[in-house]
Amino acid sequence: MCGIVSVLSLDEDCILDRILGAMERLEYRGYDSAGIACIDASAKLHRVRSVGRMAKLRDAVRTDQWSSINGGAWIGHTRWATHGQVAERNAHPHVCDGVAIAHNGIIENYQSLKNELISAGYEFESDTDSEVIAKLIAYYVKTRGLQFEEACRECMHVLQGTFAIVAISQNVPNTLIGMKLGSPMAICIDGQCRNFYIASDAIAMSSLSNSITYLLEGDFVVATRTQGGITYTITSSDGLEVERGVEPNKIQASCVGKNGYESFMLKEICEEAIVARRTYDTFDPRIIDISKFSKVSLIACGTSYYACLLAKYWIEALIKIPTDVEVASEFRYRNPVMVTSALYIFVSQSGETIDTLCAMRLVKERSCTTLAIVNVDGSSIAREADITIITPAGPEIGVASTKSFVSQIMMLLLMCVPKERVDIVQIETAINSVLADKHNMEEIARFIVGSRSVFYIGRGPSYPIALEGALKMKELSYMNAEGYPAGEIKHGPIALIDDEVCTVVIAPHDEYLDKTISNMQEIIARNGSVLLLASQDFREHMREISSHGATECLFLPTLHNVYNPFVFGVAVHLIAYNVAKSIGRDVDKPRNLAKSVTVE
Ligand code: M6R
Repeated sequence: MCGIVSVLSLDEDCILDRILGAMERLEYRGYDSAGIACIDASAKLHRVRSVGRMAKLRDAVRTDQWSSINGGAWIGHTRWATHGQVAERNAHPHVCDGVAIAHNGIIENYQSLKNELISAGYEFESDTDSEVIAKLIAYYVKTRGLQFEEACRECMHVLQGTFAIVAISQNVPNTLIGMKLGSPMAICIDGQCRNFYIASDAIAMSSLSNSITYLLEGDFVVATRTQGGITYTITSSDGLEVERGVEPNKIQASCVGKNGYESFMLKEICEEAIVARRTYDTFDPRIIDISKFSKVSLIACGTSYYACLLAKYWIEALIKIPTDVEVASEFRYRNPVMVTSALYIFVSQSGETIDTLCAMRLVKERSCTTLAIVNVDGSSIAREADITIITPAGPEIGVASTKSFVSQIMMLLLMCVPKERVDIVQIETAINSVLADKHNMEEIARFIVGSRSVFYIGRGPSYPIALEGALKMKELSYMNAEGYPAGEIKHGPIALIDDEVCTVVIAPHDEYLDKTISNMQEIIARNGSVLLLASQDFREHMREISSHGATECLFLPTLHNVYNPFVFGVAVHLIAYNVAKSIGRDVDKPRNLAKSVTVE
């Protein structure tokens, strides 16, 4: 959460455009406010911050002051608020006595540092944890006679928590500093050594350089500009100068456009069939054989967690290995019992979700085998797992996970069923036919809009799909939505049913169908409005079902049981998208969220 980009440049112009472009690519990490600071060729410090999206910041720098700045050291930040509400004074960069910093992460001991600085006479203008960093560096320069670089090193030792920090100073305008502990950070330099960048991730750097170097925990990087070019050094946490590998940056800026779609989310949903096929084509069964392990534990957050829940049904039914699934933020703090004969699978689109990453580190400390299923190659989880499989969904920019979910579940299915027995053509064709049913989806959305809240219910593998549908509905439309096992609804939630509550019943043609339909009847009997998602071959049975309440049906292709989650998953994505769109929500950037959740 929060995106950082910075550049030390020998170029005279275009830097503002470059940094703004990189920040726009980072907006998925946070978009409640943004800001830039720059030290120009005459060592003057400039700063601009604005609340809202990057478009606001672009407007704010349309001035002679900003367009006339040449060269210099720049830092930019897109914010997802942790400490302090969304307000300009809380936006980064934070500045103190000519030092400017941008920070991603959380400084856990900020309150005691802040108290110390207040006692020393400093006044704080923000409610953030991050402001202490700028003040602390300035304080060390002033009171301990340290150079900027030394003050930053000292600051890094004192800070507790997680951070990726970039810092510049008016006193040393030819220097850019980066510090990494717990939050992702990468660097790159162009071929002529005229531009050196530090940023949160490879997406920010796409179009700036073809190569990238990922920093490791505790790394401290100093870039210095001279007439001859830019040089840099990296110091590891034990104080030694180190080299980190240079890799190709596989993400190209051209992959992250909307390609004519009105939103990234719609584009990404429309890619779900292609992604299912691509995942199937690229999967190599030799990478992992689950059947060799005594037990499987799957750990993840959000939609990735629902993909894991689905896999539990498959692993237990098809490979018959005991399987448990856990939310990463719970797993990592409850002293879990681990066994070395088990396989621990971590699923994440971004590969940076801090809870999933820390849960994986915990498992590694106990010498158990970790397998990561991650969409972003080069991400922290991808790099640290014992075995990594990259889901080939391609960059997913919409905050809601859509095509990455399809890729995750295809990958997990392929670990349970021999590849040649998975009928990819059937899956692909079925997803495409759901995607083609655009008009029907708009009708369905109209049926839900106006409901006081929405329940999603399902049994067996349709239960994770119910959870996924509800999560998408709430994060995109801001409507109250809950997913339940269909059999649980009568244990309490049924008290909420009335004609203003819509229940989406996920009822594919499988062994659970009759029981799910009975649960649907119980809701209809209580005047609940019902949207039934059923397999095509259920159409004629529907006529026999009493429909006193408002009942709407969406029939989806009839498939082999195991494949149902693919088509019902796509359908719940499209329904949430259409509801949110019809009530004017920003589907790509829902309020209060960020794509990459790098704080606890
Ligand atoms: O990047 P990850 O898959 O680790 O992210 C996990 C969740 O933050 C993510 O799935 C989130 O719930 C999505 N916004 C859901 O659409």
